[in-house]
Amino acid sequence: MQTFSPVLIGSGGFWMPPQASTFAPNTDALFHFILWLCAIFFAGLMGATAYFGWKYKKRSDADRTSPIRGNHKLEIVWSVIPGLLLLVIFGWGFAGYREMIVAPPNAINMHITGQKWSWTMTYPNGGEDGNRLVVPINEPVKLTMSSIDVIHSFFVPAFRVKRDVIPNRYTTIWFQATELGSYPIYCTEYCGDRHSEMIGHVDVVTREEYETYLRGLAGCSEGDDLVACGERQFQRLGCGACHSVVPGQRIVGPSLAQVFGHEVSLTDGTTLTADEDYLRQSIMDPNSQIVEGFAPQMPTFAGRLDGVNLAAVIEYIKSLQ
Ligand code: CUA
Repeated sequence: MQTFSPVLIGSGGFWMPPQASTFAPNTDALFHFILWLCAIFFAGLMGATAYFGWKYKKRSDADRTSPIRGNHKLEIVWSVIPGLLLLVIFGWGFAGYREMIVAPPNAINMHITGQKWSWTMTYPNGGEDGNRLVVPINEPVKLTMSSIDVIHSFFVPAFRVKRDVIPNRYTTIWFQATELGSYPIYCTEYCGDRHSEMIGHVDVVTREEYETYLRGLAGCSEGDDLVACGERQFQRLGCGACHSVVPGQRIVGPSLAQVFGHEVSLTDGTTLTADEDYLRQSIMDPNSQIVEGFAPQMPTFAGRLDGVNLAAVIEYIKSLQ
């Protein structure tokens, strides 16, 4: 997992993440405009309050000033000036929003799938990867996102993009990365036990590195070692978010080490010996056989894992002895 090092003054400014997309400078400029506007008004209002409190303090009855019944000029000034400032903020924000919502037609299309508790990235060539998004620098990328369970939210602070990821509906965002490097992806919608660990990262790379990466994403092919390929799929599908490969270590689901060939007790009271068929069914129809002491939480991988890739994952689990 990448660690996130906040960058101070210089790239994003004080307290801000690095500016790594074309959206970042304008977003930050608007943020700072609003921040300083508030700071100036706050100082002015508090200063005036203190000053008037001191200046018009009633020292004796003779000191009492006559009450003011209204002042049209003053009221117009304090209505019109903030009104104009609000219009500036609205216009500026709306222009930025419009730009962020409509992806340019030449954008590279990628799909993001959120699930408890990992991200799956699907690339234009059909390749998939878990929790890692690789994009070429200086090219627009459009993300079409959906969730297979609850509501998540996809947030890349360095790009200043964030959007909810919703079941049964697509949401989209786009961005154009401007700095090489690795930036964190956070889920910013509470989605269950391990919401806070639903973290990925975006790698911004050169066009050549991007193409090399895409070629390496394909599933198992001829001559591949099944166990090694199964481990790749295991990483890519984010299985490790819920299943440890350390014997007996419980995350959300049971550990997958020392399962194959061993006795398994299910919640319905039956006991069986884990064989290939048991592993296969646990991946395709996970809720049909829940291990004692665990909740039915796992999504099915039917349609996402089949043929040789499924066989490879099973071989990988078998190898965890
Ligand atoms: Cu997904 Cu929080």
